[in-house]
Amino acid sequence: MIFINFKAYREAFGRNALELAKIAENVADRSGIYIAVAVNYLDLPLIARNVSIDVFAQHVDAVEFGSFTGSVNAEMLKEYGARGSLINHSERRLTLADIDFCVNKLRALGMNSIVCTNNVSTTSAVSALKPDFVAVEPPELIGSGIAVSKAKPEIVENAVVSAKRICKDVKVLCGAGITNHEDYVRALDLGADGVLLASGIVKAKDQKKALEELAGLL
Ligand code: G3P
Repeated sequence: MIFINFKAYREAFGRNALELAKIAENVADRSGIYIAVAVNYLDLPLIARNVSIDVFAQHVDAVEFGSFTGSVNAEMLKEYGARGSLINHSERRLTLADIDFCVNKLRALGMNSIVCTNNVSTTSAVSALKPDFVAVEPPELIGSGIAVSKAKPEIVENAVVSAKRICKDVKVLCGAGITNHEDYVRALDLGADGVLLASGIVKAKDQKKALEELAGLL
């Protein structure tokens, strides 16, 4: 499984976002690999209407409908076609209570939760909330081009073991610095179900080629 987080990169915003989502759809079709994208709120409705792959939000607020200025809740995301949301990304941390709220809310709506963590202990803690996915990402490697699966394999391995010990159905992703097919295969070899990545694809000179390589098509 490959999840591409578009973050707030210019290369993955507006028209660029739709183009990249279409590339992801095309590579998913040809490789048979599950590929999903996590896009910003403004682009989400258009992208969700125009691709067949799953589209996630990058964040969801732990609120219901009501007087919550500037907030976007899970119902709103569902209405506009999101499959689910990232929660607690290292660039958008939440309290444990808010993570719990969001996981439960998404589950109740039939949507998927991907909770990001920074190490093995937080991965264990969050697994107790029974999200669909936990994504372990050491912050110091994010955007570095140094793959967590190569630089810190023990984090991936231990995160998988401890997450599944607590919740056997949780899927474990790893992220930070994942760029190429070798990084991806290494993550799977360590027991991860997939990867969550951003800059390796979004910032690539040729996004299509980079994703084809990541997916093992080249
Ligand atoms: O959400 C993915 C992420 O934080 C990893 O970023 O640029 O290291 O792939 P990157």
